[in-house]
Amino acid sequence: MTPTIAFLGTGNMGAALLAGILAAGEDHVARDRVHATTKSQESARALAERLDVPATSLESEPDANREAVDGADFVFLGVKPWMMRGTLADLAGALPARAVIVSMAAGFSAAQIQELAPDNPVVRIMPNTPSALGRGVIALAAGEGVDEDQRAQLSALLSGAGEVFEVSEEQIGAMTGISGSGVAYFFYLAEALVAAGVELGLDEETARGMVVQTAVGAGALLADGGDPAALRNAVTSKGGTTHAAITALADADFEAVVARAATAARDRAAEMEAENQQG
Ligand SMILES: NC(=O)c1ccc[n+]([C@@H]2O[C@H](COP(=O)([O-])OP(=O)(O)OC[C@H]3O[C@@H](n4cnc5c(N)ncnc54)[C@H](OP(=O)(O)O)[C@@H]3O)[C@@H](O)[C@H]2O)c1
Repeated sequence: MTPTIAFLGTGNMGAALLAGILAAGEDHVARDRVHATTKSQESARALAERLDVPATSLESEPDANREAVDGADFVFLGVKPWMMRGTLADLAGALPARAVIVSMAAGFSAAQIQELAPDNPVVRIMPNTPSALGRGVIALAAGEGVDEDQRAQLSALLSGAGEVFEVSEEQIGAMTGISGSGVAYFFYLAEALVAAGVELGLDEETARGMVVQTAVGAGALLADGGDPAALRNAVTSKGGTTHAAITALADADFEAVVARAATAARDRAAEMEAENQQG
């Protein structure tokens, strides 16, 4: 029998992850054993229609979260980090004894969750949005109370949404800076390339088409086991066009800028943990 799953807070990230998990098929998780919640009725309606799962909203059923966790083996938390405290407090007395709490919140630690749900095992995950297409990166840090069966079952569930990397909780912050937020860095580069294409005389639609396919092609080469530096060197002949472009990026301290971006994301997660310490 597939596990019973509650998804509390099923917005951008939660819905992307749930879509990936469901796409893995009914032998991973049966749709009628999922219960998703949102704040607004409009979001719940759209979600039920899009993913074909039972979805309820706090707007129409104030106890929606407490009802959703009834009988759950895994309780995914996809609310914003600053809503974690309130959401967990509302579940007091409603969580089944062995239900594993699976938090995707950046900036809310396992210890902070454990404070509010002392009797339940806790897992922190850090997914990213390509999970919706089964192409996500999902970092997973299982707490001490999680038994081997639960960890393996969760890992199998998440593998429908992408590649699962088991890490320590200390590494979750680093994953936030690299893969959780990292998809946005690739989108930002794509935006900048489209703008540069327009600046150089291409129409926007053509530039966007070229950039999207360039990203897909580069990603495919990387996924084919490519080493990023080797792939770059292979297209960078000394004195050639790519060499001129890479030199311009290096002169602007490209690597240092990227490192600053990833560090800023990691540091912001730590700050959020401190901010969310109080309710
Ligand atoms: N976005 C990412 O790329 C990403 C990556 C890694 C981790 N995360 C983490 O994922 C979490 C969600 O981020 P997001 O970007 O997905 O935010 P989001 O799109 O705003 O989703 C939050 C969801 O929570 C619902 N909600 C609000 N209050 C609720 C409550 N009391 N009970 C149940 N549901 C409630 C919202 O309902 P409505 O739709 O009705 O407003 C919405 O569906 C955050 O903790 C974030 O740190 C996000």
